[in-house]
Amino acid sequence: MYDKILETAAWLKERMPNAPQTAIILGTGLGHLAERIEKILAIPYGDIPNFPVSTVEGHHGQLLFGRLGGKDIMAMEGRFHYYEGYSMKEVTFPIRVMYELGIQTLFVSNAAGGTNPSFRIGDIMIITDHINFMPENPLHGPNIPTGPRFPDMSEAYSHELVELADSIAAEKGIEVKHGVYLGTQGPTFETPSEYRMFGLLGGDAVGMSTVPEVIVARHCGIRCFGVSIITDLGVGEKIEKVTHEDVQKAANAAQPRMAAIMEEMIRRS
Ligand code: HPA
Repeated sequence: MYDKILETAAWLKERMPNAPQTAIILGTGLGHLAERIEKILAIPYGDIPNFPVSTVEGHHGQLLFGRLGGKDIMAMEGRFHYYEGYSMKEVTFPIRVMYELGIQTLFVSNAAGGTNPSFRIGDIMIITDHINFMPENPLHGPNIPTGPRFPDMSEAYSHELVELADSIAAEKGIEVKHGVYLGTQGPTFETPSEYRMFGLLGGDAVGMSTVPEVIVARHCGIRCFGVSIITDLGVGEKIEKVTHEDVQKAANAAQPRMAAIMEEMIRRS
């Protein structure tokens, strides 16, 4: 595994137009932040040795290199989900490659269902912590020597970056919520009882991504910042039928606000 990571990193290093220290993962319906990126190079995942290929509708599946917020950045337009059938090692492979390329800060976005009764559809939730409710930990197996066998998770999401996001949001007059993201394996959305359970367990929002990537990023010492767009609600009588299209639509509506915060954060971090 580690050999493949190094091989992919070496392949990308030969082609990279710049040396980014910041990476972004653009989640469902949030690919439009990519439009704000001054693109220098876009490489389809299928062209990158050892990279899994994204299959879900709404994901372009390419690695972007360019500039955003006055900084060199790289971005994953589309990510790999466990529910697609990838192993946790495959889901988090790009993060390991990012680390080898010199990434120090990771920005992650996703769409999620709100379990917090004060949330509304279209809210931006800054992730303050997560609960790994997926069936496997991506660090299962022999330890890759980027971090300790038993990594600390007391600050999975950088407190400093959360504060920065809050001040930028306040300056721009954008309302943001804070909350705990609970990651499930999917691909089912939750039953009403599951939403209730996840709320009781401490989740403010539930989704099918992000947790594996952040665990691996932290194992590599990469600072993480995450945002969920609340695309549907799993709260009491507010629970309605939800489709992938609904999720994409709600995510699209929120995306300019999220993009404005992310871009300014990259500029200042
Ligand atoms: N549950 C799980 N994942 C999701 C949801 C949800 O309600 N909305 C968007 N992604």
